[in-house]
This record gives sequence, structure tokens and C-alpha cells, in this order.
Amino acid sequence: MQEKRSSFLDYAERRYRLAGSALVEGGNHPYFVETDLLEESADQWPEGFLSLSHYDYLGMMQDPEVTAAAKSAIDHFGTGAGGSRLVGGERSIHRAFEKELAAFLGVGGVLSIISGYLTNMSIIGHVMTGRDLVIADELAHNSIISGCKAAKCTFLTYPHNDLEALNALLGERRQEFGRVLIATDGLFSMDGDITDLPRLLEIKDAHDAWLLLDEAHSYGVLGETGRGLSEHFGVDPKRIELAVGTLSKSFGASGGFIAAEARIVEWLKFTLPGFVYSVGLAPSTVASARAALGVLRREPERVARLRENSRMFLNMAQAAGLDTGDAIGEAVVPVLFESPEECVFVAGALLQQGIYTPPVVHVGIPKDAPRIRCFISAKHSQKDFERTVSAILAARAAFQSASIEGLRAS
Ligand SMILES: Cc1ncc(COP(=O)(O)O)c(C=O)c1O
Repeated sequence: MQEKRSSFLDYAERRYRLAGSALVEGGNHPYFVETDLLEESADQWPEGFLSLSHYDYLGMMQDPEVTAAAKSAIDHFGTGAGGSRLVGGERSIHRAFEKELAAFLGVGGVLSIISGYLTNMSIIGHVMTGRDLVIADELAHNSIISGCKAAKCTFLTYPHNDLEALNALLGERRQEFGRVLIATDGLFSMDGDITDLPRLLEIKDAHDAWLLLDEAHSYGVLGETGRGLSEHFGVDPKRIELAVGTLSKSFGASGGFIAAEARIVEWLKFTLPGFVYSVGLAPSTVASARAALGVLRREPERVARLRENSRMFLNMAQAAGLDTGDAIGEAVVPVLFESPEECVFVAGALLQQGIYTPPVVHVGIPKDAPRIRCFISAKHSQKDFERTVSAILAARAAFQSASIEGLRAS
């Protein structure tokens, strides 16, 4: 009989250890926090509960118009779509929403998909085949990177936001491949910096490539009216072959979507595996996202307030000597720390004071760049930012003096 290999449990334990389980051992950590319970018990803190953990940038998740739309959709349509839209899951509200969203974004069509993550996972391998190349920013979202790895084509990366390196790489290797797709984020969700879209479009055209631009964090955020990176730079959105978005951020719901030319959307509707073989979005989810889109169109001042708040927080943090990396002050502002231990300590100290800002260590970022990632909302106030910055400073000082004490004692 063959000698028994280690059990699956042993294997899982080892993998978990390598992933950094020591940081969260004992359950005393700031992850998987039940934020509803914190909100319910907010009066335990003199200044109440404050979250910078939700990417509900425009305050749609609790907006009465948005929640009412979801409730009435449940009454009208029931809870689920009941099937893939291709074969039974289609409702009138799916099409109405996609039409309105396409008109808002200035593109020919939109196809909504059950998750933003799945959208990237499914589209890249569907479009790019054997002789092709997909080339992604090294810090593109995990759903892009995983989608690239799962595709049958060759996969390369270029250094973060280094478009001249991309240009040079394409210059050297473009000829080896049939079709080429460049894939990147619009607004980077870990760093709060953006892609130089005009230059990227020049490079794409010069090398006869296509572009997949993930606007998950930039729709509702960038541009005067929240139409994303193309509005930010004053570029025609039709120059982007595939724009990907999510409903989980500025639209306060869940689900992903692809924005493209109408005929491309038509093709994908019949063939994209992540759409064809997955259930349609729940009608109540579509209804809430549609209501949020209505609010966004009517109240572009929410986008302006978000921008004002983001810049205010960025300036305050920088003035206090905190390291905000490359953030430009648009919705995502990380605060970087020297070590994962310091980062987790500070986030834990903030949570004890009723401020929820989860630490991001080893997940989706270079190992030497632990951070607290702050998601800014149009609903936040100057007082919220002052409270957060001073709590971070105090916790950082406490950590540093405890480290010095520790060194002295050893
Ligand atoms: C850039 C980017 N793309 C895609 C996704 C996945 O979207 P979702 O969480 O809506 O599935 C995320 C998630 O945060 C993201 O940051």
C-alpha cells in the first residue's frame, strides 16, 4: 500500500500558516467584524461608530430611495432571478437598467453579471485564446490577474503604472502574438492612484492592441459627474474596447458589468460563460442599483462632495506626517505602515475607539507595504477625518513606544 500523504487538514494548516495566520490567531483581530452590531452599540463610544471600511462612496447603501426600490422589487418580482437570463432568468428590469446605465456611460451597451470578480475572471479567457497575449499592470485587481492566469493565452505584467515600460515591452514582443489585450484598473483600489488613460490609449493604438479597463472604483467617483476615468481625462469612452464595472461600490448593491459596443454586448450575452452559466442578478439588486443610478444622475453634487472629502482626508493625513503613498485623493486613501504588526496594532486600537478601518496585510499588495485602506464617502464629515487621523497618530505612537520598551527589556 502507498504511504499516506499528509492529511488535507495538515496541508491546509501549513498553507494558512504561510499566509500569515499568526497575525490573526486567537480571534483578537479586526477582520470579519459585524459592523451592524457595532452600529447598534455605537453609544458605547463618546463620538459614536465610524466606518471607513465600506466602498459605499456616494452613500447609496442606506439611501431611502435606493432601499425602497429594492423592497418594492421583491414585492413585484420575488427574491431571485430563478435562472440564467438566457433561459428564464430575464426580467424587464434587467434590460431597463442596462439601457439606462449604457446611456449614462456613453457606450453602446451594458451587460450585468452576478459578480464583479466573476466578470473579469470570465471575460479575459473568453476573449483571448492560444496565440494571444494579455498584458496587465502588476497591481491590477486580483480578479484581473486571476482571469489572466486562467486564460489559455500568454500572460505578462508591466511594472505598476509604468506605461513606458509597457510600450517598450510591446515594442519588443508584439509580433509574437495574434491579438493583444492590455488590462488594468482605472482607480487602483489599494493605492488610490490612477492610470494615465490618454497615454495608455496612444500605446494601445500604436501596438494594435485592445484595452480592458476596470472602472470598479472609478464609476461614480472620477470625473465631474462620476462617469469614470474617461470623463476625468476628457476621453471618448468608446475608445475603450471593454470597460468593466461593479454595482458593489458607488451603486451600493452587488454584481458586475461590462460596458462595450452594442454588438459586442450582444455576442457576450449568448456566449460569455460567466453570464450564460450563472444566474441573473436578483431583481431587487438591479432595482437598488437602478435607483442609485437615478440618484447619481440627479445629484452629481454627491460626486463633488466625495471629491472634497477625499482631498480633505488626504491633506489632513499628509499634514500629520502619515504616509499615503501615491494616493491622489479620490475615494481610496491608504495609510502605510512600516510593518504588518504596526498596521494591525493601529487598526485594532482604532476599532476599540469605534473607528473601523481594517488593515490590509499581505493580501493584494506587495509584502512590504502593509496599510490601513480608508474608503472615503460623500457622507463623511471633517470631524470624522480629524478623529481618524488623531487616533492613528496616537496608536502609532503607542506602538512605537511599546516597541522601544520591548527592545530595552530584551
Ligand atoms: C478593481 C476591482 N475589480 C473588481 C472587483 C470585484 O468586484 P466585486 O467585489 O463587486 O465582485 C473589485 C472588488 O473590490 C475591484 O476592486
